[in-house]
Amino acid sequence: MHTDKIIAAPETVGIIMDGNGRWAQARSLPRKEGHTKGMINLIEIASAAFRLGAKNVVCYSLSTENLNREKDELEHILSLVLRYFDAFVDAFRSRKVCAKFVGRLDLLPEEIRYSLLRTESLLAEFAGTGRTIYIAIAYGSRAEIVDAVNKAISRGEPVTEQELLAELSFPLELDLIIRTGGERRLSNFFLYQGAYAELYFSDRYFPDFSKEDLHEAFEWYASRQRRRGLVL
Ligand code: FPP
Repeated sequence: MHTDKIIAAPETVGIIMDGNGRWAQARSLPRKEGHTKGMINLIEIASAAFRLGAKNVVCYSLSTENLNREKDELEHILSLVLRYFDAFVDAFRSRKVCAKFVGRLDLLPEEIRYSLLRTESLLAEFAGTGRTIYIAIAYGSRAEIVDAVNKAISRGEPVTEQELLAELSFPLELDLIIRTGGERRLSNFFLYQGAYAELYFSDRYFPDFSKEDLHEAFEWYASRQRRRGLVL
């Protein structure tokens, strides 16, 4: 198994955790089982990313569109926040990682919102370590950009690109975006922050995406020459 730190690990990594449903269907299991496996793997893979040297990891757990899924499936996904609360806090506490939830949290049930805020406060002591796990939940990038623009308009001052970035709920440039599950699109995931991100697509369904797969993605990233529009 590869556990060695990567020399040029991406500082800020986004993960689009796609394929939970298909993982389950391929095993004749209910889709919900795929999400449970996905939740367990989220903790594993994000922990591995920090171990390899990443500083910020942001995982797409629920888009605003996903809120329209069948009630039973949606309730199950949200219940995972409560069920895996201790495992999540323990895993990131041991790595001194703080947590932040980004998205339209006001659209979530009260009990879930409370649990997210509690998770944040239990890991808040690690804010100074420079390592943060972000969970995007009830999140959509266009809405996030519109909200930031409206805030700027309400102040009546024009903003620069950097100032607009700072207004976003996730105010960091992404270095690498990994999408599992075979699709090759961004699905409204941090469009502004990912303007110069390297894009890595894996055909594996998220529950099968392993630490070795993550290592491979980081090695691929390290081999990229990032030009940001310049001729080098
Ligand atoms: C996409 O797979 C995945 C989701 C919509 C949910 C992701 C959720 C987790 C990994 C669990 C963690 C949850 C929280 C709230 C922290 P899909 O269902 O679209 O899969 P498919 O494309 O195969 O149908």
